[in-house]
Amino acid sequence: MKLTRRRLLQGTVGMGIGAAVGRGLAEGAPRVARAVETEKGTEMSIPKPEPRIERFEKMAYGMFIHWGLYSQLGRGEWVQHMEKIPVAEYKKLKDTFTAEDFDGRAIARVARNAGMKYITLTTRHHEGFSLYDTRGLSDYDAVHSPAGRDLVADFVEGCRAEGIVPFFYHTTLDWYQESFNADFDGYLEYLRKSVEVLCTQYGEIGGLWFDGNWSKADADWKEDALYGMIRKHQPEAMIVNNTGIHKRGEFGHPEIDSTTFEQGRPEPMNREGMPKYVSAEMCQTMNRHWGIGKNDFCYMSPKEIIEHLCACRKVGANYLLNVGPTAEGKIPAYEAATLERVGDWVRMHADAVYNGKPCGIAGQGDDFGLEADGATYLFIHDLAISGLDHVTVAVGGAGPRKFEGVPDSVKAAQWVDNNEGLKIERDPAAGTFTVDATGYPYGTNTVVRLVKLT
Ligand code: GLC
Repeated sequence: MKLTRRRLLQGTVGMGIGAAVGRGLAEGAPRVARAVETEKGTEMSIPKPEPRIERFEKMAYGMFIHWGLYSQLGRGEWVQHMEKIPVAEYKKLKDTFTAEDFDGRAIARVARNAGMKYITLTTRHHEGFSLYDTRGLSDYDAVHSPAGRDLVADFVEGCRAEGIVPFFYHTTLDWYQESFNADFDGYLEYLRKSVEVLCTQYGEIGGLWFDGNWSKADADWKEDALYGMIRKHQPEAMIVNNTGIHKRGEFGHPEIDSTTFEQGRPEPMNREGMPKYVSAEMCQTMNRHWGIGKNDFCYMSPKEIIEHLCACRKVGANYLLNVGPTAEGKIPAYEAATLERVGDWVRMHADAVYNGKPCGIAGQGDDFGLEADGATYLFIHDLAISGLDHVTVAVGGAGPRKFEGVPDSVKAAQWVDNNEGLKIERDPAAGTFTVDATGYPYGTNTVVRLVKLT
């Protein structure tokens, strides 16, 4: 991220998106900085987000689903590659893929109860098998398997019924298509037609989430053609292309609407001088695999998930949390239960979570502040349950928490969860604002406790 920023600021001044596209700016190439004349002199401007990007940021929290033929083996979605399973062998998994428990509506309900607003489903992962009806492009798809149905159609219908926005993950790396290595231009044509099916057969979708360009770093992926086709059919769809674990937060092609922070802690975005406002999203596994790992016990708790969600919102990023359905297509019980528990927390703090934006309020440690359409929230971490040390072990503590950047107009503070009023104090000389954060009342602990300022 730091490197990108530095490169960004060294870019050619005055070149807009159009010019950059026209010159075929490659994935990962530096974006151009733009100097703007203001009364104060030459300054770098921060662009305004387009409506689709603003909408996306307000969705805040989404479900990622990794599901495919690999789910039958239960050793992650990279199993074909890791265990060097020959294609001729691996593709037999299609003959046992029944999807009998896959129910788009049931999955969308889990997401809704979790407080998630969108779901990004792997319509095709690196293995090359499509969950959708490719309409003649390939018979390596769900309709040609024992499942015998278009699972993406079922997914989209389920999402709509539950008020969830469907997004499509689509691989660009393909271990099945020979053309990927033998005839790359032919492959790109196949890829584009595949994505065109997704853009034309399922109504309006939230966005396309690509992954795999990192596998051929030097290739010309002809992104202009792919993204141009998407914009034609789905002008309101977000376009994301995973930069990969080693290039978190980098800005790629100028049509990209959101950068990715795969398995990381997102950093604040520096949008000064950017030709357009690009949002950010952090995707993460709930254990250590995206596709189901039957022997992976390394799961996050609701506490950790709440902390990650807060860390994302702190910098204005979305949080895309993964589940790995079973061979038959059901979300594993632990994952569903954990999501539901986090959902209780999200519902308690809905306004702050969905509408909160970074606003220059800084706290100490993990504490921070957000502004949500007029309301201001402070996020307080590591509070102890107060006043009963016979039965609870204090972690962190109650007491004064100091912040900077709190607007002068703020006159009162209260906990969001029980409306208890809190003492506040200002030090105008130091520019600090202190809230006397009482501990949790016995019987509660919300991991991160929110203060509403008025
Ligand atoms: C990586 C992996 C892939 C996974 C993705 C999710 O790119 O290759 O398996 O789908 O991360 O972000």
